[in-house]
Amino acid sequence: MAIYPSLITMQCFIVLVCISIFSSTVTASDPPLTLDYYKSTCPNVFDIVRKEMECHVLSDPRNAAFVVRLHFHDCFVQGCDGSILLDDTIDLQGEKKASTNGLNSLKGFRIIDKIKNKLESECPGIVSCADLLTIAARDAVILVGGPYWDVPVGRKDSKTANSDLSSQNIPTANEGLLGIISKFLYQGLSVTDVVALSGAHTIGMARCENFRARIYGDFGATSGMNPLSGSYLGKLKSVCPAISGPGDNNVTAMDNFTPDLFDNSFYNTLLRGEGLLNSDQELYSSVFGIETRKLVRKYAEDPVAFFNQFSDSMVKLGNITNSDSFVNGEVRKNCRFVNT
Ligand code: HEM
Ligand SMILES: *[C@@H]1O[C@H](CO)[C@@H](O)[C@H](O)[C@H]1NC(C)=O
Ligand SMILES: *[C@@H]1O[C@H](CO)[C@@H](O)[C@H](O)[C@H]1NC(C)=O
Repeated sequence: MAIYPSLITMQCFIVLVCISIFSSTVTASDPPLTLDYYKSTCPNVFDIVRKEMECHVLSDPRNAAFVVRLHFHDCFVQGCDGSILLDDTIDLQGEKKASTNGLNSLKGFRIIDKIKNKLESECPGIVSCADLLTIAARDAVILVGGPYWDVPVGRKDSKTANSDLSSQNIPTANEGLLGIISKFLYQGLSVTDVVALSGAHTIGMARCENFRARIYGDFGATSGMNPLSGSYLGKLKSVCPAISGPGDNNVTAMDNFTPDLFDNSFYNTLLRGEGLLNSDQELYSSVFGIETRKLVRKYAEDPVAFFNQFSDSMVKLGNITNSDSFVNGEVRKNCRFVNT
């Protein structure tokens, strides 16, 4: 047991050194994001985004999950710069087909297009797609019962995307806890941010190929094989056959109690050992998870503590900036293409 903390400390130390070098050279001159960036140029930006998101989430709560995940996948690749929204063209390889984006499993792009159209008709050329997506993700969370937080704005859209960086930076379902933690530390986020932001899995669905190894692997062991979890596991296996094939894109909720509600029941799922994704269950069950286990227990017991930390962590996620975009970026007219 004694070696685990020191292993973690060592890994954190190495990564932290890299981060401090990285941040001191890259982000020092970035203009800070502010709440009133659009105050004179597009005073209704927050209302416009909210109204649009209301329609989309009302018609299907899954739309909230799509948008929140898009924002996360945007920010983990060269900062929150709208790079995830770019389509493939002759000149540009987008991120949508990257393996970590499930070769097109990301959805919600049409929602972003619609909001962008509204913004362009009211304040043409003003609001970046990166800001739009950040605001929309906040509204998505509120509309399914989650917390409110203020969204700092002022991002620019990139003229580039990076598919390779998607594959490197975005954590995957079967990744171990240390791998996931180091990917967050690399972005300047903390272990607390890992646990709190994973709580976004209280909404939305996962595809069979992302939980197959888990349900035919250690799910039985972590959940203790009681009759209730046994029947849940049986249901999961009927949705997701053991052999890869036509069932690969079958989906099921990550929070099977309140799949459309943003609450803290995701953490209770982990306490029962019934996390759908291996990466989620690791937060509670990994031998390296001394700190993460404590946080899982805390958020399971205290929904207010979860909401407060989730809000703070989302602001930090949205604060991962792309320095290059501040200099060379633009406000895209169409979120799918760089301006010509
Ligand atoms: C901690 C590491 C994380 C891992 C390994 C991970 C992995 C995954 C996987 C495998 C899926 C299912 C995708 C599919 O099968 O199509 C998923 C869905 C989702 N993730 Fe994460 N994720 C992580 C963190 C986050 C964070 C930080 C957020 C947002 C703050 C987030 C938001 C979502 C949402 C909302 C969905 C549901 C999307 C839908 O319904 O289609 N995830 N995640
Ligand atoms: C997909 O899931 C449904 C139940 O939701 C199941 O009836 C079907 O057999 C699954 N598809 C495959 C190929 O296993
Ligand atoms: C956001 O990033 C800037 C540096 O780019 C930093 O000064 C500021 O403290 C960060 N804010 C938050 C809330 O993390």
